[in-house]
Amino acid sequence: MNITDAEFVRGFIRMCDDGWKQGWHERNGGNLSYRIKPEEVELVRPGFSDRGEWKPAGTAVPELAGEFFMVTGSGRYFSNVARSPEETTCIIELDDRGENYRICSGLTDGGTPTSELPGHLMSHAVKKRVSGGAYRVIYHAHPANIIALTFVLPLESRVFTRELWEMEPECAMVFPAGIGVAGWMVPGGKEIAEVTGRLMEEYDVAVWAHHGMFCAGEDFDLTFGLMHTVEKAAEILVKTLAMRQGKRQTVTTDQLRRLAGELGLGLPEKFLYGKEENC
Ligand code: 13P
Ligand code: ZN
Repeated sequence: MNITDAEFVRGFIRMCDDGWKQGWHERNGGNLSYRIKPEEVELVRPGFSDRGEWKPAGTAVPELAGEFFMVTGSGRYFSNVARSPEETTCIIELDDRGENYRICSGLTDGGTPTSELPGHLMSHAVKKRVSGGAYRVIYHAHPANIIALTFVLPLESRVFTRELWEMEPECAMVFPAGIGVAGWMVPGGKEIAEVTGRLMEEYDVAVWAHHGMFCAGEDFDLTFGLMHTVEKAAEILVKTLAMRQGKRQTVTTDQLRRLAGELGLGLPEKFLYGKEENC
């Protein structure tokens, strides 16, 4: 089978294209990775080229030793993925220590996996553990509204979570655990990978101040839908704050408690603090 005909590859390509159409991927902004299931590896294995040489993955993830991932290439444009998947994405294999990777197919013009590979791998390792293996997708994008909020809201999980939950009822249903927030960090380094990995222990979303968002999920639809929901809520908040200073009215703590109770959301108490004003 042609690698690009595999269902998971088509899903990966479609997600890149959907993100591009949302305007979340200027130039080479953002990256996507998928932890491939063993049976899917067997489907595409006949299409693997001569394996590239082993290179340091930039982190150590023994929990992921020997696993295969589909990832976007560093410097590659999401706008080109649907048109040229072989040049813009690749399948990599991790060695038996989870410290080195080699390219099995893709990136036909040369190049390397995304510079955020350490962050993707650390997040995959955490999510694999805490989800019992169910989570397979890690997605990073640069949506404008959530980034804009990192210039005006305190960089605290409790504030971002609460403000976005108030925007529409779906928010508390889609990210009941809340969202993590990290201060500005150099992109692509070990620090951003470690901080994000720690946030992924508790949350499916990490906001990187003045940079973008990092989401985790079981499959492409859920992960894309999560990014979309957070960014939509951020857009509503940005519009609201642009219209007037503070909100005139909002969803109250009691209303959030009712939502949580009637839908069994189990919202963490730390986000249900009383607010002095409607803002
Ligand atoms: P890459 O092109 O290396 O994936 O980097 C894009 C990006 O958004 C870094 O944070
Ligand atoms: Zn980025």
